Amino acid sequence: MNPFVFHTPTRVYFGEASATSCGDFILELGGSRVLLVSDAFLEKSGMLAPIIESIVAATGNPPLIFNDVPPDSDISCVNRASQLARANQCDALVAVGGGSVIDTAKVVNICLTFGGELMDYQGLNIIDRPLLPLIAVPTTAGTGAEVSFVAMVKDHDEGKKLMFGSPYLAPNVAVLDPLLIVSLPAKLTAATGIDAVTHGIECFVASGTNSVFTDAICLEALRLLFEFLPQATVDGTNLEARGATLAASCMAGVAFTNSGVGITHALAHSVGAKYGTHHGMTNGVLLPHGMRFNLATTSTQYARIARFLNFTNGGSDAEQAQILVDKVENLLKELKLPRTLGELGIPELTADNLKELVDMASSDPAIMFNPKEASDDDLLQLLKGAY
Ligand SMILES: NC(=O)c1ccc[n+]([C@@H]2O[C@H](COP(=O)([O-])OP(=O)(O)OC[C@H]3O[C@@H](n4cnc5c(N)ncnc54)[C@H](O)[C@@H]3O)[C@@H](O)[C@H]2O)c1
Ligand SMILES: [Fe+2]
Repeated sequence: MNPFVFHTPTRVYFGEASATSCGDFILELGGSRVLLVSDAFLEKSGMLAPIIESIVAATGNPPLIFNDVPPDSDISCVNRASQLARANQCDALVAVGGGSVIDTAKVVNICLTFGGELMDYQGLNIIDRPLLPLIAVPTTAGTGAEVSFVAMVKDHDEGKKLMFGSPYLAPNVAVLDPLLIVSLPAKLTAATGIDAVTHGIECFVASGTNSVFTDAICLEALRLLFEFLPQATVDGTNLEARGATLAASCMAGVAFTNSGVGITHALAHSVGAKYGTHHGMTNGVLLPHGMRFNLATTSTQYARIARFLNFTNGGSDAEQAQILVDKVENLLKELKLPRTLGELGIPELTADNLKELVDMASSDPAIMFNPKEASDDDLLQLLKGAY
């Protein structure tokens, strides 16, 4: 067996109404003045109320609420939230929301702990010591941001996403409460869920420090997602399906943060940064193309996934791997997700636009872990094929 490192610093709590324990977790982590990061919709929906109540009951202080996180957060949002936290001497953070909210809280945490210029902390493993306590409460089931070592926020001036990566960015506690996902509309359930499917598939074949640990986690996460994501999308009140997708997306997050993702994510990051498309939905469009690109190199692993999911009754690895690609295509159809970059709303790709996307994707950290090397021309052809 190859040497590997597996590291997951986040304590995970799962259960209906578990979010009402946030106050106790903050107390245990030594926090007393909480910055609660969320978005306007979630605050208006009343979802934050029991969490705020639990924080007040435990700490005696009402949290400072920053509810202004847009989908795909940006530097100005991070700066505004950091100012609010500094002005009120906050010593802990609770993030309640999707990946955009959780990533914002992670980057705010860098600002609060280190001060100075945010840009100085961009990149991998620049952050080298613990940050303030952070509790992440996901309200979407897809990104795995509640356990991952990375955070991404947009730099509008540069038209690209900034990536921060370090084990110290992982939240101290992730609280998985299926009740908070019930209100997620079908379209976003499908879009966020396919992000988790992409994490599972890309991580299983990634060239990072892949291990038996991440293999096992990816397989079970994919089993849960293929079984329960369609159900959660059709009936959002199905708590068993909501819980299964929430657990699976967290598991896939633990896996990819250890072993990496690949070409689909590299391209989705560049398309998302340039056109503002939803991360999960963009991954959904690109995933079959990324899988086909990798197919010859990864057929043994794809076949293993296909067998684990009971998709095949034998055949060669190449045949079983192809069945997995077909099943992914069927899942995308069943979830009624866009199938082309055009359907995602992207205007016709000019040569200049394509070059810009290829340049961004070829320097994206995700591409480092793709099992097959991709030239600029490979990336270009893949984008053209997905249009
Ligand atoms: N840090 C990581 O490891 C990681 C991994 C993947 C993606 N991401 C980032 O996550 C972001 C995408 O996150 P996302 O897919 O969770 O979407 P999101 O956080 O952008 O949220 C999308 C929309 O869903 C709404 N929403 C959230 N929860 C809801 C609920 N329970 N009910 C109704 N509406 C709800 C939000 O208000 C928002 O309008 C991207 O910025 C992406 O780069 C981060
Ligand atoms: Fe992702």
